[in-house]
Formats: sequence, C-alpha cells, structure tokens
Amino acid sequence: MKDKLSAKEGNQNAGARGRFSGRIGYVLAVAGSAVGLGNIWRFPYLAAKYGGGIFLLVYLILMVTFGYVLIVSETALGRMTKKSPVGAFGSFGKSAPFRFGGWINAVVPMLIVPYYSVIGGWVLKYLFEYLRGSADLLAEDGYFTEFMTSSGSVLFWFVLFSALVFFVILAGVKQGVERVSKIMMPVLVVLAIFVAVYSMTRPGAFEGVKYFLIPKFEDFSWLTVVAAMGQMFYSLSIAMGILYTYGSYIGKEVDIEKSTIQVEFFDAAIAFLAGLMIIPAVFAFSGGDMATLKAGPSLTFITLPKIFASMGVGTVVGIAFFLMFLFAALTSAISLLETSVSTLQDELHLSRPKCCLIMCAVMLVVGALSSLGYGVLDFVTVFGMAFLDFFDFLTNSVMMPLAALATCFLVIRVVGFEKIDAEIESSSAFRRKKLYHFFMRYLAPVCIAIILVSSIANVLGIISL
Ligand code: PFF
Repeated sequence: MKDKLSAKEGNQNAGARGRFSGRIGYVLAVAGSAVGLGNIWRFPYLAAKYGGGIFLLVYLILMVTFGYVLIVSETALGRMTKKSPVGAFGSFGKSAPFRFGGWINAVVPMLIVPYYSVIGGWVLKYLFEYLRGSADLLAEDGYFTEFMTSSGSVLFWFVLFSALVFFVILAGVKQGVERVSKIMMPVLVVLAIFVAVYSMTRPGAFEGVKYFLIPKFEDFSWLTVVAAMGQMFYSLSIAMGILYTYGSYIGKEVDIEKSTIQVEFFDAAIAFLAGLMIIPAVFAFSGGDMATLKAGPSLTFITLPKIFASMGVGTVVGIAFFLMFLFAALTSAISLLETSVSTLQDELHLSRPKCCLIMCAVMLVVGALSSLGYGVLDFVTVFGMAFLDFFDFLTNSVMMPLAALATCFLVIRVVGFEKIDAEIESSSAFRRKKLYHFFMRYLAPVCIAIILVSSIANVLGIISL
C-alpha cells in the first residue's frame, strides 16, 4: 500500500494524497514548519523585552500544556479524516459553523504565505549580499530602509523566494517537502550552534547569557504571560491548517504524542539558540544597552549586520546566520503553501499543478501589495497599517485565535474526547490522556480568548505588548 502511494506521488493528481515516509520525515517537516522567522527574530526580542529568563520559563510551561494540546488535536483530526482543514471540519457536519471552522483554518496560510515570502525575500537578499562580500554595506546606516522602500528590488527577491517554495511544492510531499526538510533542518541546527557559540564567546557577552537564562521574578507581569502565549501560538504553527494537513499525510504507525514532544523540543531548542545568538551579541556590542535589545523586528536586519561587521568576521558569521535564517523561512513557507495547495486539491478536485497556479495568483496579488507597501504604495494604509503589517495583524491577531477556538469547539462539542483518544491510541498508549482532557477543556479556550482580546487591545493602543 505504502509503495503504491509513493509510486503515485510523482504525478499527484486530485485523487492521490501525499504521504510522509514515516515518523522522522514527518517530525522534521513539522519542525521545519514550526521553526521559522518567529523563532529567530521574534523570540529573542520578546524574551529581551519581557524579563529574559522569566519569559523563557513561562514560554516553556505554556508550550508543554497549551501548545501541546492544540498540536495533538489538530494532528489527530487531520489523520482521522485524511483531509485538510475544510474537509476535516466538513467530515463532522455541513452546517455554517463547520464551514466557518474549516475555511478560517484554511484561509490563514493562504494569506500568510505571500507576506511571509516577502520577508523570506529580504533574507535571501541579505544572504546574497553577504556571499558577495558586502558585509560593510549591510552595516551602513539607512541600508535596510533604503532597500525596503526600493520597490523593484523587494519585489524581485520576493518572486525569487516564492519560486523556490513553489519548486519544492510541485515536487510533492515526499520528494519535495520531506526531502528538503530532511536536508535543511540538520544543517540549520549545526549553523545555529556555530553562531550561538561564536556570539557567546565574545568579550562582554556573558552578561547577556546571564540575562537570558536567569529568571528575574521582579520582571514578571501578566504581559509576560500574554506575550509568551502569543509567541508560542505563532511559533508552533498552530491554527493555520498546517497540522491538520500534515496529520492527514501520516499513517497509524506514527506516535502522535511522541512526535509532538519532539517537534516542541526542536522548536524550543532553536528559539533558545536564537536567544543565545542574539542577546549576548547585542550585550557585547552595546555594553548591555536595553534599548538596542528591545528594538524589535529591526534587530535582525539593522542591528545584527552592524554587530557582525564590528566583530571583524562579518562575512563568515553573516553567511552562516542568514543561511540558517533562510532555511528556517523556507521550510515554514513550504508548509504554508503545501497546506493551501492541499485544501484547494481537496475542495476543487483539481490537479496539484493547477492548484499551484491558483496559489501563484494569490501570492502575486497579496505579496505584491505587501512588498510595495513600504515603497511606491506607502501612501495606502489599512487601518493605519502598511499592507504587510495589516495582513500580519489580520491573520495572527484575529483569524488564528478564531481558528483555534473552532478547533476547540470541534473537539469538545462535536468529535468528543473518546474519538480523539482512540485516534491517538491506534498507534500507541496515550500517556498524557488526563492532562490532555483537562488542558483542552479548560486551559486552551481561556488562553485563546486572552490572546484574541490582548492582541486587538494592543493594536488599538489600549495596552502595549
Ligand atoms: N511557525 C513559523 C514561524 O515561527 O515562523 C511559521 C509561521 C508562524 C508563519 C506564524 C506565519 C505566522 F504568522
């Protein structure tokens, strides 16, 4: 049966569903999806802003409770129904709430992948510049702003990054997604360790290591919890249809619980290493100036090149860092596009290449708006935001919490815990069954509601995250 499926995969058409070869391929593909821009640029500056070690501690606790139950739920529903989110919800009912639940999970990756690829394009451009020895140019004041506002160049790098992602998706689940993850993820780990060790051993960096690792309880506030919750949600690729889709590509031999723990370990380890790369380097560079550390997203594209240049070996470290960053962005973008294409295949019953063509059109429209939003289209804003920021807000702050609430509703009120338990137990004992029931029923809906309310309050300026 397995062989038959893989034989079909080369020319996947509407009827043939892709499949991972086994647990390792599946774990690396999900880890590839989870480890992305979120781990490398978002996690370190949030950790720096919200009390270093205490943020790390809260983050880890949330990951093994709230994060764990959502990953297990989405994966089990995907494997049970053998469908992407729309089909998965549709398997349990055809009325409006089911259609809403399915489509909101499915539309999120379709809206994210274009702007995510715009940022992927920035990473590609930086890697290219490092490779041709322009480390000093990247460290110049105003370089990033100039690049961002140069519409043609941003568009070019976005199209190039997207082309790489499409290339992998067209190759199929096993030959494309799995193969690329199996190569890129181990390389990513090695590069991350290299850059982290280098950064930690700079003179003056040790203060940064201490700041990052030692919890300071006086820095704890409820904003630490809210920020950690939002970051965990973002980082684990929850509520964007990916885990349903990847779950639908695995067989009963895959132990969902064990795989989930491995994916979480991977994701936390890379976020941890990113913290060890960035926070000590910034301490060494700025003498512990907290304002530099809390600079937010610009840390990666503006501050880091300056730090690398000041270290004297900017080119080597720059190449290692941006290559690792590129692999992280690519494997995540691949999972977003795979999910989008898979939903279209399931729902429209069209061939994989035709569904790729549809997504190509979506990518061009949403991606072009996002890449030009800081350049020639900077006079257009949506609710006061540039296009890229608006799509990010719409998906992360509004749609993803709603999508996760829909999953909670499906599990708690419709499918029932017995069926989920049976699905998990079809491959192994369900070791944390009691905890799963408890966290899913009580913790997850409350956490999601907090994320929804706080992120909207943040955008409206009521709180400042
Ligand atoms: N989990 C990935 C990351 O941390 O970058 C992928 C991802 C998360 C993409 C959230 C987009 C997103 F809004």
